Amino acid sequence: MAALVPGAGGVLAIADVARPVPGPGEVLVRVRCAGVNRADLAQRAGMYPPPPGVTDILGLEVSGEIAEIGPGMSWGEPADVEGATGAGVAGAVVLRPGERVCALLPGGGYAEYAVVPAALLMPVPAGWSLVEAAAWPEAAFTAFLNLFMEARLRPGERLLVHGGASGVGTMAIAMAVATGASVFATAGGPEKTGLCLRLGAEVAVDRHKEAFAAVVDACVPPGVDVVLDMVGRGYFADNLKVLRPGGRLVVISTLSGAEVELDLRRLMAKRLHVIGSTLRGRPVAEKVAVRRALWNRFGRQLAAGGLKPVLDQVHPWRDADVAHERMRANRNAGKLVLELD
Ligand SMILES: NC(=O)c1ccc[n+]([C@@H]2O[C@H](COP(=O)([O-])OP(=O)(O)OC[C@H]3O[C@@H](n4cnc5c(N)ncnc54)[C@H](OP(=O)(O)O)[C@@H]3O)[C@@H](O)[C@H]2O)c1
Repeated sequence: MAALVPGAGGVLAIADVARPVPGPGEVLVRVRCAGVNRADLAQRAGMYPPPPGVTDILGLEVSGEIAEIGPGMSWGEPADVEGATGAGVAGAVVLRPGERVCALLPGGGYAEYAVVPAALLMPVPAGWSLVEAAAWPEAAFTAFLNLFMEARLRPGERLLVHGGASGVGTMAIAMAVATGASVFATAGGPEKTGLCLRLGAEVAVDRHKEAFAAVVDACVPPGVDVVLDMVGRGYFADNLKVLRPGGRLVVISTLSGAEVELDLRRLMAKRLHVIGSTLRGRPVAEKVAVRRALWNRFGRQLAAGGLKPVLDQVHPWRDADVAHERMRANRNAGKLVLELD
């Protein structure tokens, strides 16, 4: 099969590689579109190796059609046998040849075929394109897991999302607004802050012009209950400063650096929780639990056409380097998607 792998000079090029074989509980998906993620750039740079046993082909999310099923599974059965009772609302898929699906993967999405644990398959919501479906899983799982399962964001609370115009940030704003939280966001430049406001953020701070802590402090009442952070060192002290008593900081990336100084008395005085979280390395069972909880909460909205990802650009997969360079330079607002031909 064809896959995108680093060729001469490290440029991603299409090459012929062995087609993966689905094992028990796995399904082979014919990939039509693959979402681009920061993790792909980090993996390519040698900074984010795939978990043990996972292919080194890039790609954490895809859309396409079911091509084959692994041993012990039967066509016509639900892909997630345990979750089958909630089919539809719980986002369960029935195993049919050619069924349109999207999925989160630990790797291997930049290829003609990808192996997916069956219980992680999700339907393509009615009215969505395969481009939209490929842009959805990683941002949606990350936003949902960290806002609702890790930080326990509740209606009426105030959330601060950094990187508000990123793939994850845009989804986090949409989910928090849909839940009845009020949202503050930071992003780089007026186009990106405008996008955050259109998604429902009350306040969007241009990180190149203003310090977010000053803006949050100046609000009545000041402070936030939850921070979703991908910046790390550069924002750590101010993140703790703006959190209200009982506040939660979830760190999902360290774009400005990973090492920080911490006076533990600050945590104690305000009873703060600092939570670190990654999605990719979690066991499949945990990801399945996220998928079920996500569809139970938002399944109706998805079926009604809500919570679509914000698309930045779509590129033919042979132009993956163009998409990666756009992301590396922080120029994307929303998701970049590769379309296979
Ligand atoms: N832990 C997990 O499980 C998990 C899962 C998925 C993604 N992530 C992480 O979440 C982040 C968002 O992912 P994505 O794929 O949606 O990325 P993305 O679209 O590339 O967005 C990242 C954004 O972060 C902002 N940024 C970059 N460097 C910064 C800096 N030094 N200071 C402040 N802001 C900076 C930029 O936006 P502005 O210029 O607009 O500020 C950039 O567009 C990534 O760091 C990714 O690795 C973590």
